[in-house]
Amino acid sequence: MALSLAAGASFEALGADYEAARWDPIHFKPAIEKASDEQCLSCHKEILDRPTREVSPAGFKASDGAAWYQTLDTYQGAQDDFHRRHLSSDYAKQVMDLKCNTCHQGNDPREETPAVEAQNAGFAMRKSVDPEKNCLMCHGQFPYQNMVGLEGPWHEVRENFDNPEAPNGCLSCHGEGGFRSVRHQVNFLKADAIEAVAKQKSDTCFGCHGGRSWYRISYPYPRHAWPGMDPAQPDWAKDRPTESDARYLAGMKKK
Ligand code: HEC
Ligand code: HEC
Ligand code: HEC
Ligand code: HEC
Ligand code: HEC
Repeated sequence: MALSLAAGASFEALGADYEAARWDPIHFKPAIEKASDEQCLSCHKEILDRPTREVSPAGFKASDGAAWYQTLDTYQGAQDDFHRRHLSSDYAKQVMDLKCNTCHQGNDPREETPAVEAQNAGFAMRKSVDPEKNCLMCHGQFPYQNMVGLEGPWHEVRENFDNPEAPNGCLSCHGEGGFRSVRHQVNFLKADAIEAVAKQKSDTCFGCHGGRSWYRISYPYPRHAWPGMDPAQPDWAKDRPTESDARYLAGMKKK
């Protein structure tokens, strides 16, 4: 079958035809687990290159509107492409280290998500990204219900915590010696850089813990033991893992 491809030039360079490229085993388990970004980008260069539309297909100008998330302080610059915002924006590069296969976990396209419950059987949603185990980590609600000492959502209580001398009120409870101080030791985050940037404002922390929430639920974070932790577990934490998902620990040095 003759098909034209936006990325045709790179397929030709590879000597691969469209069907062979589409069914390249690199898309599926187990090969996808070991794939490097360079391998994926050898065919999908457009993922980081393509410009956003100035006008939608229906004629709406991007400059005439803004999505709610573009109005947040955490959103810098003009609207940009989803992939670049996670892989190559200045902020993404500063605090994150996401790879293609952090999100794309691969599955057989002939078996795409037969039903929502089936996600639990190893299927994932559209384009093989698992939103519940992935996006939710950084785009869930602020789980203040689990935080002793917080009476309400952050936007209501933050003025009791953020102050000019200590502009990040999260750290009054989550600083050194505080609650859940063992965090972010995963292969897609830059843990030290996050703490360094976060000294200036609580929005750094809130950004990934409620400030960019696309979901009405919050991610059930693993609960890593921290120095000084009370061994008695609160009820809400009974089913929590005590370590990050194994997939996110690959390549990490134990601290
Ligand atoms: C040999 C070239 C090649 C390589 C290498 C490759 N892809 Fe693809 N990929 C394709 C082609 C061709 C398609 C089909 C494109 C279409 O139909 O629009 C495709 C489709 C996809 C899709 C869309 C699937 C869907 O369900 O619609 C995703 C996501 C994807 N690739 C991700 C990746 C990732 C991640 C990697 C690296 C692990 C990768 N690809 C490596 C050629 C490649
Ligand atoms: C933060 C998670 C995330 C990361 C990291 C990521 N993707 Fe995606 N990707 C997605 C999601 C979600 C979609 C579906 C977007 C849609 O079409 O609605 C997608 C769609 C795609 C598609 C098909 C649709 C399209 O936009 O062309 C390809 C191909 C693709 N990604 C390749 C890649 C490659 C290559 C990398 C690494 C350079 C990568 N992705 C990194 C989440 C991610
Ligand atoms: C490791 C944390 C992390 C994960 C995982 C993550 N995001 Fe994000 N997301 C961010 C950050 C940080 C930004 C802001 C980047 C910036 O300002 O440059 C962002 C920005 C966005 C934006 C707005 C950017 C735009 O203009 O497109 C959308 C939409 C989004 N994420 C959706 C998703 C979806 C859907 C997933 C899962 C496929 C996902 N994110 C996974 C951290 C994450
Ligand atoms: C008044 C103290 C206090 C403040 C201020 C505070 N937290 Fe917490 N936070 C806690 C406590 C207590 C816990 C639960 C500790 C435990 O696991 O027993 C917690 C838990 C968390 C968790 C894990 C929730 C879960 O379900 O596992 C996250 C994420 C978190 N806080 C982020 C933040 C962020 C981001 C801020 C600032 C925007 C913040 N916290 C401000 C006290 C606080
Ligand atoms: C770029 C996004 C991002 C930023 C910025 C960020 N976090 Fe997180 N945070 C995450 C992700 C993702 C996890 C889950 C990692 C894992 O699975 O272990 C997490 C986990 C946590 C946890 C659970 C700890 C545990 O027991 O494992 C706490 C508490 C927390 N973050 C607080 C904070 C605080 C406080 C800040 C600011 C100093 C902050 N986060 C900044 C993405 C972020």
